[in-house]
Amino acid sequence: MDHFLYRNGQLHAEDVPVAEIAAAVGTPVYIYSTATLLRHFRLFDEALDWGPHLVCYAMKAASNQAILTTLAQAGAGMDVVSGGEYARARAAGVPGDRIVFSGVGKTRAEIRTALEGGIRQFNIESEPEMEAVSDIAAAVGISAPVTIRVNPDVDAKTHAKIATGKSENKFGIPIARAREVYARAAALPGLRVVGIDVHIGSQLTQLEPFRQAYRKVADLTRALREDGHDILRLDLGGGLGIPYTRSNEAPPLPTDYGQMIREELGDLGCEIEIEPGRLIVGNAGILVSQVIYHKQGEGRDFLILDAAMNDLIRPAMYDAHHDIVPVVEPDTGVEQALFDIVGPVCETGDTFARARPMPPVGPGDLVAFRSAGAYGAVMASEYNTRALVPEVLVNGDQFAVIRQRPSFDEIIKRDSIPAWL
Ligand code: LLP
Repeated sequence: MDHFLYRNGQLHAEDVPVAEIAAAVGTPVYIYSTATLLRHFRLFDEALDWGPHLVCYAMKAASNQAILTTLAQAGAGMDVVSGGEYARARAAGVPGDRIVFSGVGKTRAEIRTALEGGIRQFNIESEPEMEAVSDIAAAVGISAPVTIRVNPDVDAKTHAKIATGKSENKFGIPIARAREVYARAAALPGLRVVGIDVHIGSQLTQLEPFRQAYRKVADLTRALREDGHDILRLDLGGGLGIPYTRSNEAPPLPTDYGQMIREELGDLGCEIEIEPGRLIVGNAGILVSQVIYHKQGEGRDFLILDAAMNDLIRPAMYDAHHDIVPVVEPDTGVEQALFDIVGPVCETGDTFARARPMPPVGPGDLVAFRSAGAYGAVMASEYNTRALVPEVLVNGDQFAVIRQRPSFDEIIKRDSIPAWL
């Protein structure tokens, strides 16, 4: 459920007409709903209410400071994957003991910053990383809380580019080697083992792969406890998918997911951590764009928008589907026509949809890409020197620009000319 609905013939973001925001800020623009963000965070939080838990928002999905602050004030922890994300989380007021640090390539500088600034745990992905964390922690005089990410070798049944839990993926250590690696971790001077971490992929639309992975984690918890390790926490990663089309079968809800976790892991007495990103922010954001031209091609009709692949890369990168709807509500039963919906960038890959049935829309009309809140603005670039797309947050009947569109002057001034020119 989201808060982008037609009212009086106009698409609204909560109580604000989308057209009003587009008029004030220009297009393309991302618009987020506070109510949807908070609702989705709370759904996860409540789904795990049966025991001690922490929902660590995977901020890679959308990391604007206003979004982070909204979630932090609601009690969210954060899952960070870089020094930059760590700095953002801290700037949003998230205490170190609510931040987990994931990622296969944490640098020594990043590890040190997090250790000195405060961290709930590092999710360690390899033996070399384990040694680096131990060395730095010993040098700083701290014992670093760690989990080790295990790769359970399950098929997440999602797009290959976002599946992470198969043995051929770069993530985690093979679960078969976990006891040996935990023994090494326990022997290192700077580490304090606190739990196990697993994350098998993103946009999972079934519970079964999660269940298989978590069952393996339950067995491993028992085995590691027999080996004498303190397994206090289980970080179960993110990955629960969202509906991208109205018609497709609905993915499981956070409630079902929480119940399944309870069934598989509830008797272990561990604190549960999860790292959802997409489900919290995906349907809490839309990308609004204006149609520039309607071009009649050879046997195809193109709608050329002022948004492009640099603003929303998901269709080009993952063949992702986003519903695209007119901001003015179409009359019911109106005839639809097929369009290729494209951006202005000079690449054929700059295509959002092919042969998409659309109600009548033409030059000057506004359209909204639904479910664009996750992996949208954060993956935007300034390719073709198109200004980085701005972001707006709505709360009830108020809205605020939470990231300005840079001017061309600002963009140009970020470069510098060497003295020899
Ligand atoms: N935890 C870890 C360790 C992750 O690698 C990820 C996502 C998450 C949590 C959050 O997963 P989520 O709940 O959002 O599915 N850019 C791609 C998605 C990349 C996901 C990367 N890792 C897309 O647009 O589909």
